[in-house]
Amino acid sequence: MGLKLGDIAPDFEQDSSEGPIRFHEWLDGKWAVLFSHPADFTPVCTTELGFTAKLKDEFDKRNVKAIALSVDSAESHTKWIGDINTTQNTLVNFPILADEDRKVSELYDLIHPNASETLTVRSLFVIDPNKKVRLTITYPASTGRNFHEILRVIDSLQLTDNYKVATPANWKDGEDVVIVPSIKDEAEIKERFPKGYTAVTPYLRLTPQPNR
Ligand code: BEZ
Repeated sequence: MGLKLGDIAPDFEQDSSEGPIRFHEWLDGKWAVLFSHPADFTPVCTTELGFTAKLKDEFDKRNVKAIALSVDSAESHTKWIGDINTTQNTLVNFPILADEDRKVSELYDLIHPNASETLTVRSLFVIDPNKKVRLTITYPASTGRNFHEILRVIDSLQLTDNYKVATPANWKDGEDVVIVPSIKDEAEIKERFPKGYTAVTPYLRLTPQPNR
């Protein structure tokens, strides 16, 4: 059965393009994005890994480490990284797990046999500093992921961990947020949201992003 939100991301030891990795140790108390792709030397994956490398400053700002995975060897990853760097005009700056024995793929349920018997699907996990899974998404092999959306969700998670708010549809960092319905007491609202709020309905209350 697949991982669920709130589960502890399973620990593992596996080889990678940067040498062996013990996952929980590698996390080092940071947020992480672990994402799988179907195979090395494939076009969509090449663009995804190149784009992720270019987002390093954005990941660093949010205290996030990236780690990719496919069921190819570390030697293959190293050769492919050369192609990614050249074609995407970047330098891959995160490890790619070499999951040849599918140890991690099985732990994280990354092979979906009705999609492909052998290749991993395009899954992605956001893991928090307590090693809890906070986001899971799975895309088909033919659709590259939107990494701006991943950053947007991380912004939402980091905000809502610290304030009693939730983020509405299509929210982006800096926009108004909603006050969680469990807060009813006016005095508490005033204290927590000194910038004020607008009650569109009694349960839809908008307030400026509190940490801005
Ligand atoms: C790709 O990454 O380009 C890809 C991989 C497997 C199937 C289709 C596309």
